[in-house]
Amino acid sequence: MAKEVIVSAIQASGNVHIGNYIGAIQQFVKLQDKYQGYFFIADLHALTEPQDPEKLRKQILDSAALYMACGLDPKEAVIFIQSQVPEHTELGWILNTITPLGELERMTQFKDKSKKRKNILAGLLNYPTLMAADILLYDADLVPVGKDQSQHLEFTRTVARKFNSKFGVTFKEPRALLKKEGALIMGLDNPSNKMAKSAQSPNNYIAILDEPNEIQRKIKIAVTDSGKEIKYDPVKKPAISNLLIIYSAMSGKSIKNLESKFKEKTYAEFKSSLADLLVEKLSPIQKEYKRLIENKGELLKVLNNGKEQAQKVARTTMLDVRKKIGLLCE
Ligand code: AMP
Ligand code: TRP
Repeated sequence: MAKEVIVSAIQASGNVHIGNYIGAIQQFVKLQDKYQGYFFIADLHALTEPQDPEKLRKQILDSAALYMACGLDPKEAVIFIQSQVPEHTELGWILNTITPLGELERMTQFKDKSKKRKNILAGLLNYPTLMAADILLYDADLVPVGKDQSQHLEFTRTVARKFNSKFGVTFKEPRALLKKEGALIMGLDNPSNKMAKSAQSPNNYIAILDEPNEIQRKIKIAVTDSGKEIKYDPVKKPAISNLLIIYSAMSGKSIKNLESKFKEKTYAEFKSSLADLLVEKLSPIQKEYKRLIENKGELLKVLNNGKEQAQKVARTTMLDVRKKIGLLCE
């Protein structure tokens, strides 16, 4: 039987952090054997925030290298760059033409991001239609994402249904695959907001490429809660609970196990152990990342190969779509 398909991505917005790792990339790596995976770098989505062209180019390649350094294997999964498969934008446009404005205006991510900005760009509003296209092109069964993206997944299902009922069954309705714990890692400087690449302060996140002393420093100054017990209680102890989730995801130990391990310990001791753990787990990833970036030719070859494999599928889907909606296909 053919393997089920999973599709997912991270934006090429730099500073890939442990929230992305725990909420997304770690899952991709676990799933890549069992499923046919399509994992790409969403560079077009990154354009919905202002980007410096030189920096963006570097971020795209860096993110691809990080995918592989974290364990994604081009022999198992198709790894590529979104903008190199233009069918994504083509289908995104077509989905825009059947999407009511109100549905896009209601999206939490759009509301949050546009609150922070004076000039609201149309690209930010249309972000979910491009994301739906990313997924529907490959007939995805499952989409592993962090909790912050579940509304976009629901939107993808809605737009697929709408297209199918208008033009005949074309798309599969994909399901989100959320991790139970660690689906949303919160900021180290403010546990009521998610850890985010776009955070104002770099103290909000641990980037996968942070140097050991940077990791130690950021964990040391991470916000904690009142009291002194190391206990999982997201309501009363949001900061410590967040650190426990991170510890658990990075070590593979259960939260219960960690609570007893740190029973008699202080916040400072717990934090110091967490910082050591992060340094230990991230350093092999950083080493492999350096090797890949220094062998740019090899990296570009993988991405080119991924592009070709992805495009084969994307072209077939688009031909079907073009025919169904009445575009000239001769
Ligand atoms: P992005 O940083 O927006 O490109 O997100 C890439 C992937 O990481 C998506 O699957 C997100 O759901 C996930 N992600 C982003 N931020 C977090 C976070 N703070 N906690 C858990 N997952 C996250
Ligand atoms: N919007 C996602 C995020 O910010 C990234 C993304 C773009 C994505 N296209 C996708 C995730 C398709 C899953 C499937 O996290």
